[in-house]
Amino acid sequence: MLSWIVSKAALVCYLVGKYLEPFSLSLEKLQEVSAQLQKDMTRGLGKHTHHRASVKMLPTFVRATPDGTEKGDFLALDLGGTNFRVLHVRVMEEEQKVLKMDSQICAIPREIMLGTGEQLFDHIAECLSEFLDSQKLKRQTLPLGFTFSFPCEQKEIDKSILIRWTKGFNCSGVEGEDVVKLLKEAIHRRGDYDIGSVAMVNDTVGTMMSCGYWDRSCEIGMIIGTGTNACYMEEMKNVKRVEGEDGRMCINTEWGGFGDDGSLGDILTEFDKVVDKTSINPGVHIFEKMIRKFETRFISEIEEPDSGLENAQQILTKLNLKWDLVDARVVRLVCDTISSRSARLCAAALATIANRIRLNRGLDYLKTTVGVDGTVYRKHPNFSEELQAAVRLLAPKCDIKFLVSEDGSGKGAAMVTAVAQRLALQSRLLEDSDGEENGEDE
Ligand code: GLC
Repeated sequence: MLSWIVSKAALVCYLVGKYLEPFSLSLEKLQEVSAQLQKDMTRGLGKHTHHRASVKMLPTFVRATPDGTEKGDFLALDLGGTNFRVLHVRVMEEEQKVLKMDSQICAIPREIMLGTGEQLFDHIAECLSEFLDSQKLKRQTLPLGFTFSFPCEQKEIDKSILIRWTKGFNCSGVEGEDVVKLLKEAIHRRGDYDIGSVAMVNDTVGTMMSCGYWDRSCEIGMIIGTGTNACYMEEMKNVKRVEGEDGRMCINTEWGGFGDDGSLGDILTEFDKVVDKTSINPGVHIFEKMIRKFETRFISEIEEPDSGLENAQQILTKLNLKWDLVDARVVRLVCDTISSRSARLCAAALATIANRIRLNRGLDYLKTTVGVDGTVYRKHPNFSEELQAAVRLLAPKCDIKFLVSEDGSGKGAAMVTAVAQRLALQSRLLEDSDGEENGEDE
């Protein structure tokens, strides 16, 4: 009986393996993907090519990573899903510490997710008010970092226009508007507290900045979770849509949109096409859909080295499916295959960024750090190892260290605000000293 099951399993896995063949991507294929992404990134940065580019390469107006001299108290808001978080963060220069003093989670009810923009921002302002009361912070005017994980066209660090809602939100009157302005208006409508300067942050940027505080060579931020995306420090001379040639600026690549113009056509499988067609946003964020498809927790459990098969059986039962031992093996094989492609595709995208930074700087060898976050990267049993192994092959002249971020959306947002404040202070000091010199000249 047992030998019959084993041989049936082997046969079925062989046949299913045939279906799964298009999921295995050779090194050469990954190099082609990387070369295509490189082209698309350049198009995204270009003044005249940006509007047609699938990889948007959005300037973030974050011009520097932490240098360790940042300090002070900050508020952070984090909106990216059905919950909304408010945090009080303290950055301590002497002790080189970023402390989360306290935080509060507020649910965003469905009627607010689908209501008016005014209702949404009034709700946010009310949560913030309750938090400030509980922390006895209402009399202070603290600077605020706002992690808003939706695609935005940033005009300045404190001016960010929502391109479109995603992840189940659809509040009227917000798309095409400046989110910071809407937040400030809601706070002014209440009139019971005020906030200082505001910095808008994508979650990738928060991740890079929170890791950047510990590791000064962290110049890339990457998220692999519900969505996937990355940011990195680009040379200003290549950021054609922003004035100025000197220094660097963090670019939010929005690499999830890679392939939206059909450029990944030859590696899209028939299954990818079905996933896209049956999604709420067909034709959009094709690369992201290739990276993350099913419930991450289930996939991770099914791929556990020791208990994976048992977990697969329990999950199939939980899903009310009829199964036998062979089915459980097949499910595991499918999960392994999808995760492995996902890790290798992310590796190709990350290697593209690392290679780009190396060439930008004319270096023979680049040593850099990537701040990472997201459930797929954190929780999957071998995703991170597979990704790192493929990156080594695809970016052989780059030595990349991976640092898992600790609350990038919270502490990272505060860090962006702290760096913006430090830079503003430094340029004010510079202006003052220029004034003095002029005075002396007179
Ligand atoms: C989606 C969003 C992007 C975000 C990513 C990870 O791709 O468009 O802004 O960084 O999800 O949360």
